[in-house]
Amino acid sequence: KPAYRIASIPGDGIGTEVVAAAIQVVEKLAKTLETFQIEFTHIPWGTAYYKQNGRYVPEDCLDILRKFDAGLFGAVGAPDVPDHISLWGLLLAIRGPLQLYANVRPVRTFPGTKCPLNTATDGIDWLLVRENSEGEYSGQGGRSHIGQPWEAATEVAMFTRVGIERIMRFAFETAQSRPKKQLTVVTKSNSMRNGMVLWDEVAAQVARGFPDVKWDKMLVDAMTVRMVANPQSIDTIVGTNLHMDILSDLAAALAGSIGVAPSSNLDPTRKNPSLFEPVHGSAFDITGKGIANPVATFWSAAEMLSWVGEKDAAAKLMLCVENVCSAGILTPDLGGTANTQGVVDAVIAEIEKLK
Ligand code: NAD
Ligand code: IPM
Ligand code: MN
Repeated sequence: KPAYRIASIPGDGIGTEVVAAAIQVVEKLAKTLETFQIEFTHIPWGTAYYKQNGRYVPEDCLDILRKFDAGLFGAVGAPDVPDHISLWGLLLAIRGPLQLYANVRPVRTFPGTKCPLNTATDGIDWLLVRENSEGEYSGQGGRSHIGQPWEAATEVAMFTRVGIERIMRFAFETAQSRPKKQLTVVTKSNSMRNGMVLWDEVAAQVARGFPDVKWDKMLVDAMTVRMVANPQSIDTIVGTNLHMDILSDLAAALAGSIGVAPSSNLDPTRKNPSLFEPVHGSAFDITGKGIANPVATFWSAAEMLSWVGEKDAAAKLMLCVENVCSAGILTPDLGGTANTQGVVDAVIAEIEKLK
């Protein structure tokens, strides 16, 4: 029976709550199905670690991660540390350097939950593909004349042909694997006349290899309107690091709640372990209240199981989660009154029935 070693990095805030919830559920699943083994190793990187060690991750963090089959991440960010320090200290110190270039963000309205759009009475079912290694998150730029009235700052978005081509190919393959076989390439090539124009050119080139995929182009501002006004016209979306960061929060809210949205940071070449995490952050406003929605992390864990080779277990886990939602056992973000542990217990009870 296959055995998987998973790095668990709960991080900060509700990250610790939702990762603990997901571990309970996945361990129960493994014990019940008896078709695979899974071992979570706790990795304490986060703001408490930073305060103790002066950095968010040890120097050899990538080598540490490479010893695992995959990682399950919670969130990072604390009220008393500037966000650009915490995020570049931990999450962005992993995604780019490990070349986890494909960030896959499915959004779906779960049974028993409400999609707030009256333009999508059957709910939403989209898949967002986010370029995850360059673009606006290249980390290039600087500041000069700090504090002077003529202070200047640059934030350089760096796009490479290799980087665009590989994410575009990934997105077309992903769209091809879905029933609608439809892809929207999002850019901003009217005002951004270099990187975004290169995106459009590469999209057209890659598209030639996928004649069965229906694809179109959309400017990102217009895309936000389409997501609200004509959601049924959308299936798979691909776009840059920053554009898809923004659109994925919007998409999650439109589907029902940011509390259900998962995210897979994939290295499609499988040279490095991939990292799975909810889309949401550490949510200071609800940290410690025990009401964080664990579903986004359950779904992320299911995506992780599927990625390492346990597709059947992943599908079963998602079925259990959907049954719990259908039964109305929902956290407050979805309009329910359940707490995190209540949802965990209900999913565990569903898993029990798989025996
Ligand atoms: P956030 O996603 O943490 O929270 C936004 C809103 O959504 C809050 O009202 C929060 O309560 C709610 N929410 C988020 N997840 C929820 C869940 N599982 N269940 C119920 N409600 C949920 O975004 P923010 O407030 O902009 O950021 C807070 C901190 O997290 C910042 O430090 C930010 O930089 C960081 N952040 C980290 C990640 C990450 O680690 N991947 C992602 C986004 C933000
Ligand atoms: C996300 C987050 C991160 C991002 C932040 C916290 C760096 O918002 O995963 O969506 O922008 O990628
Ligand atoms: Mn985000």
